[in-house]
Amino acid sequence: MILGLETSCDDTSVAVLDLNGEVKSLVSANQDSSHRPFGGVVPEVASRQHTENLLPLVEQAMAEGGIAWPSITGIAVTSRPGLIGSLLVGVVSAKTLSLVRGIPFVGVNHIEGHLLAPLLRDASYGPPMGFDFPYVGLAVSGGHTHLFHCEAPGRYRLLGKTVDDAAGEAFDKFAKMMRLGFPGGLQVDRLAATGDRMAFKFPRAFMQDEDLNFSFSGLKTAALRQLESLSEAEAKARVSDLCASYQEAIVDVLVEKLARAARKCGAKNWTVTGGVSANSRLRARAQEMASAQGARLALPPLRYCTDNAAMIALAGLYRLRAGAVSPQDLSPSAASLPGDFQ
Ligand code: KG4
Ligand code: ZN
Repeated sequence: MILGLETSCDDTSVAVLDLNGEVKSLVSANQDSSHRPFGGVVPEVASRQHTENLLPLVEQAMAEGGIAWPSITGIAVTSRPGLIGSLLVGVVSAKTLSLVRGIPFVGVNHIEGHLLAPLLRDASYGPPMGFDFPYVGLAVSGGHTHLFHCEAPGRYRLLGKTVDDAAGEAFDKFAKMMRLGFPGGLQVDRLAATGDRMAFKFPRAFMQDEDLNFSFSGLKTAALRQLESLSEAEAKARVSDLCASYQEAIVDVLVEKLARAARKCGAKNWTVTGGVSANSRLRARAQEMASAQGARLALPPLRYCTDNAAMIALAGLYRLRAGAVSPQDLSPSAASLPGDFQ
């Protein structure tokens, strides 16, 4: 079995996976309440909390899965990209467990984890029948908006990414402007449900050509201008319309680019992962588009979409199987490394 550790941002997560990719246990500690007073993730607070939470979570994951150390044959840890102080906690812990227990460990890329999430299995989830490599994957979260052709385990071709804000960041910044709380994506989703998506006109960037990159900073500025043009009472009265229109602008672009990427690669298997894939409108629109194009869409359950260690363990499983073992002097890296993606 593989032990997975994830501490790249503000969630501490530990998972145990068997060698078929079946999740035996997954436990996480969410830090939202610690960062909420600041309206965003505070790196120093995040790493300190990882230090407190990680080892107790390892013990909890082993106990809940009824797993003994001799069954663990490998350790996978997120070593990039992310907040450096947060990554450091996971990497140092993985190295220590590796030394103490005599088990090989491997540092993996967090985005690779998100891309592999649809292939995880447990008692109530498995990928849709026939879903496998190659597939197009949209990894969309607070930290990234990346579109890949996932050709085989370890072979991911980057097709496009955001040139400024990530989609989750666009949701969160808008929520902050609207004073909806932190993290705001879920609030926008909830309020948008009763709003008019056509009420306000917001820009959709890079839609004219075959470009597969994304940009959300213009949208954010347009929303700010729109809010400035409304009185506080008007903005309050029209909060659902504002949320629905803003959300639609993000979802339109994400779904259109996913479909374009699939056409470009001739891919009939699609997945959307990352925290933003929790968005109800994105899920519905991606499903509609996949059905219209005769494609199979894997939408992993939320526990595998938000930051979690099960996806990291799966990335590690493939890497270890391919013979990749990390050395004790492995350093975490804030960015992806050359060679992670093609
Ligand atoms: O993957 P994740 O848990 O952490 C990162 O790696 O960032 O994603 C968190 C992001 C946040 O920006 C949050 O606002 C967004 O996912 N999010 C949503 C929804 N639920 C979470 N965005 C839109 N609609 C949602 N329902
Ligand atoms: Zn993530």
